[in-house]
Amino acid sequence: MTSDPLIALRPWEAPEVTSWGRLPMNAVDRRSGALPLDGDWRFQLLSAPHEPVGGSWSSSYVPGAWTLQGTDDLPRYTNVRMPFAEFPPASPTANPTGVYEREVDVPAEWAGRRIVLQAGAAESVLLVHVDGRPVGISKDSHLAAEFDLTGLVRPGSPATVRLTVVKWSDASHIEDQDQWWHGGITRSVLLYATDPLYLADVTVRARYSGELRVDCLVRDAGGALPEGWYVTGELDGRLLTQDAEFDRANAEDERVSGFLGEARLLTVVPEVRTWNAETPELYDLTVRLHRADGTVTDTSYHRVGFRDVTIVGRDLLVNGERVFVRGVNRHDFHPLTGRTVSYEDMRADLVLLKRFGFNAIRTAHYPNDPTLYDLADELGFYVVDEADIESHDHAHEIADDPRYLNAFVDRVSRMVLRDKNHPSVIIWSLGNESDYGANHDAAAGWVRRHDPTRPIQYEGAAKRGWADPELASDIACPMYAPLEDCVAHALSGEQTKPLIQCEYSHAMGNSNGTLADHWAAIEATPGLQGGFIWEFWDHGILQRVSDGRPAGRGGAGLHDNGVAAPGHRWAYGGDFGESVHDGAFIADGVVFPDRTPKPVMYEHREIAAPVRIECFRHEGIVLSNHQHFRGLDWLAGEWELVLADGTTLTAPAELPDLCPGETAAVPLPFEVPRDGGEAWLTLRVTTAEDQPWAPRGTELCLPQIRLRGLAVATDVPVDRRVEVDAEGLLVHPLLTAAPTLSLWRAPTDNDELGGIAPRWQSWGLDALVRKVVSVREGAGGVTVEAEYAGTTGVVRHRQVFTPVEGGIRVAEEAELPEAFDDVARVGTVFETVAGLDLLEWFGQGPWESYPDRSAGAPVGHHRVPVDALFTPYLRPQESGGRHGVRHFTLSAPDATGLRVALDRPRQVSVTRYRAEDLTAARHHDELVPRPGCVVHLDAAHRGLGTASCGPDTAPSYLVAPGLHRWSWTLRAL
Ligand code: GAL
Ligand code: MG
Repeated sequence: MTSDPLIALRPWEAPEVTSWGRLPMNAVDRRSGALPLDGDWRFQLLSAPHEPVGGSWSSSYVPGAWTLQGTDDLPRYTNVRMPFAEFPPASPTANPTGVYEREVDVPAEWAGRRIVLQAGAAESVLLVHVDGRPVGISKDSHLAAEFDLTGLVRPGSPATVRLTVVKWSDASHIEDQDQWWHGGITRSVLLYATDPLYLADVTVRARYSGELRVDCLVRDAGGALPEGWYVTGELDGRLLTQDAEFDRANAEDERVSGFLGEARLLTVVPEVRTWNAETPELYDLTVRLHRADGTVTDTSYHRVGFRDVTIVGRDLLVNGERVFVRGVNRHDFHPLTGRTVSYEDMRADLVLLKRFGFNAIRTAHYPNDPTLYDLADELGFYVVDEADIESHDHAHEIADDPRYLNAFVDRVSRMVLRDKNHPSVIIWSLGNESDYGANHDAAAGWVRRHDPTRPIQYEGAAKRGWADPELASDIACPMYAPLEDCVAHALSGEQTKPLIQCEYSHAMGNSNGTLADHWAAIEATPGLQGGFIWEFWDHGILQRVSDGRPAGRGGAGLHDNGVAAPGHRWAYGGDFGESVHDGAFIADGVVFPDRTPKPVMYEHREIAAPVRIECFRHEGIVLSNHQHFRGLDWLAGEWELVLADGTTLTAPAELPDLCPGETAAVPLPFEVPRDGGEAWLTLRVTTAEDQPWAPRGTELCLPQIRLRGLAVATDVPVDRRVEVDAEGLLVHPLLTAAPTLSLWRAPTDNDELGGIAPRWQSWGLDALVRKVVSVREGAGGVTVEAEYAGTTGVVRHRQVFTPVEGGIRVAEEAELPEAFDDVARVGTVFETVAGLDLLEWFGQGPWESYPDRSAGAPVGHHRVPVDALFTPYLRPQESGGRHGVRHFTLSAPDATGLRVALDRPRQVSVTRYRAEDLTAARHHDELVPRPGCVVHLDAAHRGLGTASCGPDTAPSYLVAPGLHRWSWTLRAL
C-alpha cells in the first residue's frame, strides 16, 4: 500500500475526480514575467502508476512527449477504437507513467508573494508533488493546470518539483480523438508570483458598437480584501475607470462579501475600428489592480477586438454580415515533437492558411495551444473553439453517465474561462463524436449562463435534427453531409439554424474532389454558410528507416517539398509495430507533415478568391469583390492574355474601387487577335502592400475567363509507313513501351476506403490481359484490333495509326461492357526513353488537377520538370495528373524529345511510375523511379471525390461504360 495520497486515490480510474488542489481557470496571461521551467527534467518511465519510483533516472525534455524521446513506449495510432480493451472508466494495468523531476530555485524576491505553478498540458492525468508533499491533480490533456505553492516553497531556496503523468485513465475514454496516442507534458511549465492581492480573472466584452465592458475578479490570498482597492484600465492610451453604477450596486448588495472583489470598467470607444477576419483590428488593453494608496499590485494585458456574433434567422452574422466560413480543422501537430508546437510553427500554419484563402479554424478536437488564439486574433481567423471531449469508442455509454458529468462541465467551462476574451473565438463547441446526452446539456447550460455572447455548436446534438431548437447546438453542423442534403435542407423551408459543416471534404491522399461544386452551391444558396475541411495536417511522424524510431526533437531537419528527409519516412499507423491501428487514415490533411501545401490548397485559394471575373460583356470585363468587409485597394493585379500559339501577353491591371459585393466593368486591356484558336484572360492578383501574413507581391488568386474557344486542328496525312510488331504494338524510337489501353489507376485512399478500387480489382482491371485480334495495313495506315480481358468482361479496343506530317496520328476506340460501370480511366499509357525530363504543356496547371478538382488550375503555357509533377502522397497512389491538357512536349536538355497533341483537352499524367509501382509501395521512400516517363493520356478520368470519409464524387465525374473515342498525334521534336 502506497503512502502517497495522490496515488492511493487512484485518480486514473475515477472519472468524478477531475482535479484536486487545482486553481480555477482564468484568462489572465501569466507567461510574461514568469520563471520558465522548460528544458531537460530528470525522468523515469514506470510501467504503472503505483510502481515505486527509484530506478535510474534518464532525462526528458519539457515540453514534449516521451513517446518521441527515446523511450520504448512509442506513438500509436487508432481512430475510433481505444488502444486498450478496458471498459470506461477502467484503464489497463500496464500503464506507462512518466515521472518528471527537477529542482527549482525559487527567487528570493518572491518572499511575501503568492507563488503559482502552471503546467501547460499533460496527458492524461497529472499528479503534482513539491518536496515530496502532495500538491494536486489535474486532468484534460489540452488545458493548463495551476497550483498554489505559496506555503510549500521557500523563496530563496530550491524546491523539488515532481510531475507524474499517468498515460491511461478514465479520461482517455473521453480523449479518444482520431490522432496519435502519446504521453508526456506537451506544453510549457512555468512558475510565477503575484502580489497577495491579485486579479483572479478578467472578462472582456467588446462590441461592434464600440462598447467595452471589462469585468475583473479580484482576490486576496490572505482572505478578506483590503479596504480601498480599485481597478483601472488603459485602452490604447485611453484611461478607463471603474463603473460607479456597478460599484454602487455592489456596495448595496448584501450578498457580496469582503472576500469577493468585483469591479467593472465600462466605456464606449467612438469611431471604433472593429474586428473581423479580414481586417483584424486590435486594441491594447492593460488592466491594473491598485491598493488604496495607488500602488499597482497586479496587471493583466489583453488584445481587444470589437465585434459581434449573432444568429439571425438561419444566418450566422459577424458584425451584422453573413460571412462565409472557409474553414479547416486544425490539430496541434508537429512531425518531430508530436503535440508540442512553437510560436513560429503556429504562426507559419496560420500564415499559410491566410495565403490560401482560409478564414476559419475549428480547433479539432480540443483547445489548441493558447498562442494559437493570440495569432488568430492578430492575423484574422474565426475560431470554433472545441472542448477536449471525444468518447468515440464508448460514445453512447459516456454521454449520459453521471460519473463523467463533472468531466464534461469541467472541460467545457475551463475552455470558456481560458478563451473567452479572444475576438477570434466566435463559437464554442462541446466536443466531438461523443453521442449526445445529459452531460452535454449540463455543459451547454453552464456556457449559456457564463457567456451569452457566442453560439454553441455540437455535431452530436445537431445530428438529432438540424432544425430542432431543443438540441444543444445553435448551428446545424453536420460532418460529411452530402451536398444535395445540405441544399435540400436550405430549400426545404424547415431550416432554423445556420448550416456550417464542422467537417467536410476529407483531405486524405489525393482527394477533395467536388470542392468547387460545394462552394458554388454554398454561395448560391441562402442558409448555407460554409464549413471546415477535414483537416489541416497529414500527421506523419518523421521516422528513421534504419531503426524505426521517431526522429524526434533535434532529429533530421525537415525539407519543404513534402518528402521526408533522406533515410527517413513519414510514419503512419502501424509503422511503430502496433498491431491494432488505423493505417494511413492519420494522413488526411491539406498539407504534408512538413507543411508543404498539397495541390488542393490551390484549388481552395481560387474558390476563396477575394476578387473574381464574373463575365465578359461589351463594356469590358466585369470584376466583383467577394469579401465581406474590405475593398480591393490592398490588392494589385496583372492581366495575362494566354493564346493558343504559345504566347502569353501581360498588361498591368487597374483594380476598380469596389465595396464588398459590388461589381464593375473594366476595359479589356488587349486587342485579341482575330483568329488563332483559344484565348484566355487571367487576372493575377497579388498583395499590393505587405500584409502581416504576406509580403507585397504574394499571389492570392488567378481568376480566369475564356475569351475564345477551341479551333479544330487538322493533321495532314502523308505517305509513310508506320511500324507495328507482331502483337500490333507500335514501334517507335522514343517509346520503350508501346501505347496500350489503360482502365486503372493506382487506387487513391478514396478509391480504396470508398470501396471503389475493390470493385476494379474484382473485375480484373488492375491486370487486364491483352490479346491482339487483327492487324491490318491499309492506305490510311495500320489498324490494330485488340481485346483486353478482365475477370468479368472484355473491352474491345482499336488503334488506327496514320502517318501524318511530322509524326503519327493515333485514333483510338474502346468499348466498355456495361459491367464495367465505374472505371478509373479510359485512355492510353506508354513509356518513353530516358532523359526526357521537362514537361511543357498548354492546358490547366501548373499544379496537379483532376476532373473534379480543377478550379484552381488556370489554362496556360506551363513548364515543370517531370520529377516535380508528382505529388508525394504519404501512401503512394494515383498522383501528378494534369487536367485539360491540349498538347505537350517532353524534352531533354538538348531539346530533343517528343510532342503530343490531343484531340480535345484531356487528363494527362507524366510520372516515373506505373500504376502498379505505386500500388505496391506503402511509403514514398519505397518507390523506385523508372528511367523514362510513364505517360497517361485519358479520354476520360474518374473524379477523386472524398469517399475515404464522406461522399464520393458527383455522378457527372464518373466514367461511363460504352464507347469511348480519342485521338492524339505523336511527333519527335
Ligand atoms: C470524423 C472525425 C475526425 C476524423 C475524421 C476522419 O469523423 O471527427 O476526428 O476522424 O472523421 O478523418
Ligand atoms: Mg473520432
